[in-house]
Amino acid sequence: MAGWMFTARSLQQPAGILPPRCLPGYKPGNAFPSPAYAEAKDDSMAIERTFSIIKPDATARNLTGAINAMIEQAGLRIVAQKRVRITREQAQTFYAVHRERPFFGELVDFMISGPVVVQVLEGENAIAKYRDIMGATDPAKAAPGTIRKTHSKSIGENSVHGSDAAATAAVEIAQFFSGNEIVG
Ligand code: CMP
Repeated sequence: MAGWMFTARSLQQPAGILPPRCLPGYKPGNAFPSPAYAEAKDDSMAIERTFSIIKPDATARNLTGAINAMIEQAGLRIVAQKRVRITREQAQTFYAVHRERPFFGELVDFMISGPVVVQVLEGENAIAKYRDIMGATDPAKAAPGTIRKTHSKSIGENSVHGSDAAATAAVEIAQFFSGNEIVG
């Protein structure tokens, strides 16, 4: 029995890489660290998780796959994903920091206007990396090759959202995913 277990683990775990329970940061029941952690070359590499939304303007134009390809080509791993219709209350809670802004009502109406794809992305410096891949909030100001420059219509319908900091990422991920839905 012990020999079979060893063989099965060997199939999942490349030679020379410790099983997850031996890695710093591992907690029983938590899917972290994932294979991305095993790919980190040394302790100075920060493996993070960030929260992403593929917004209604993008799902309406069948761009989920194209956006996911840009995410994956940049080296981020999609460790959780689901397509949902969010409620007005969820949108208001999610964007509560913008409640006093003149565009708040328009933003909430837009986010509930069609399906969205909510995601957890994992990888080295995932929060900053995803913001780089997305490009500036206003697609007119986004760098060439970014998701927003390539696909977005306007500052309001800007195709994707990504967390702006580690604390925000933790709150945003927890709003949409339970721990066992995140599989690294
Ligand atoms: P997001 O990264 O999801 O965070 C807040 C969102 O508010 C932002 O993307 C935009 O979609 C939206 N937003 C920011 N500024 C404006 C604006 N001036 N007009 C309309 N929507 C905006």
